[in-house]
Amino acid sequence: MTITLAFDVYGTLIDPFGVSAKLSEYVGDKASQFAQVWRDKQIEYLFRRGLMRDYRDFSTCTRQALIFTNERLQTNLSAEAKDVLMSKYRLLPAYPAVPKALQQLKAKNCRMYAFSNGQPDDLEHLLEHAGLSAHLDGIVSVHEVQSYKPDPAVYKHFLDSTNAAASDTWLVSGNAFDIIGAHAAGWQTAWLKRDPAAVFDPWDIEPTITVVELVDLVDAL
Ligand code: LAC
Repeated sequence: MTITLAFDVYGTLIDPFGVSAKLSEYVGDKASQFAQVWRDKQIEYLFRRGLMRDYRDFSTCTRQALIFTNERLQTNLSAEAKDVLMSKYRLLPAYPAVPKALQQLKAKNCRMYAFSNGQPDDLEHLLEHAGLSAHLDGIVSVHEVQSYKPDPAVYKHFLDSTNAAASDTWLVSGNAFDIIGAHAAGWQTAWLKRDPAAVFDPWDIEPTITVVELVDLVDAL
């Protein structure tokens, strides 16, 4: 049986807080608070767009969350600064141990895909820039179904696109809401708990496995 691995992108392969250094140039010691509010608001906007069936692509949601955060924290970013931050978002780095872990997982003959809320052109650019594309068999974006994780439709879309069966498919994600969404769709799940303080939502659901680093999957699968 061939296992299919679906890797979440932002918060799993790619570090969404990789904009923090650039943010510091603009907002000084508010950078880490800014990065957290921006990320939280971005995810909230994705959820709300999905629920309202009023899809806007990921970069629109990210930009609107940036505008919100700038107003909320009164950081007076110029239009140019906002453009620079948005372009940095397409160049976010991979977490350090990711390329090697993907290489080792590929050697186990797993089918490996990126599966993300991001839009296809951003994902291609991002994963190529981070040196991850060569390890992946493809990219599946929610964009094709115009909704967002954890809408069951997007997990179904992944299975349809990759010709995979739910029971042989693993979602690998650092985002608990994504793990719970995949679990509800009947997938296996690996929660990446890089931060020891991360809390899994108390919904009476457990990930199939929990790992600290991606490389831990090599022995766990
Ligand atoms: C993604 C978000 C959930 O890449 O991180 O889908």
